[in-house]
Amino acid sequence: MSTIIFQIQSTLIVILLIFGVYKRKNRQIHIKTMYTTIIWDILLVLQIELTRGAINKASKVIENPMLLNIHVSLALTTVLLYFAMLFTGNKLKKGFESIRTQHMFLGWTTLTLRLLTYITSFGAVS
Ligand code: HEM
Repeated sequence: MSTIIFQIQSTLIVILLIFGVYKRKNRQIHIKTMYTTIIWDILLVLQIELTRGAINKASKVIENPMLLNIHVSLALTTVLLYFAMLFTGNKLKKGFESIRTQHMFLGWTTLTLRLLTYITSFGAVS
């Protein structure tokens, strides 16, 4: 049951992330959307971390341990990248134009990794 709730949240987060990148030229919408997405995604990781231990003990949810390892590594890297996005995004907001290239490069990388995290979540657990 909780898996479905996590997957619904994850789907909404991915949609929000794509919307935020689509609106990258509109600062106000871009920044608000990205803050919401990042906070929600970190809360999702925490929800999964806090409940999964208990679920694991109660049932055999792990379908493919190798895929789960890849999935967890992607998810943790994405969270690290979120902090880089907050840092470079804030600098850009304050007018440090020279950081634009890094923000853009890290942004597309973050989006790619988040999509891969999403894809690998199906099949990692049942
Ligand atoms: C995962 C999170 C994020 C992604 C994927 C992302 C991605 C992007 C991308 C691709 C651009 C376009 C760069 C260009 O073409 O020049 C951009 C612009 C920008 N981003 Fe982000 N961003 C994220 C988070 C943030 C955050 C948290 C902030 C602020 C705190 C921020 C502030 C900005 C600003 C100010 C611009 C420039 C907008 C303009 O051209 O006026 N971003 N972002």
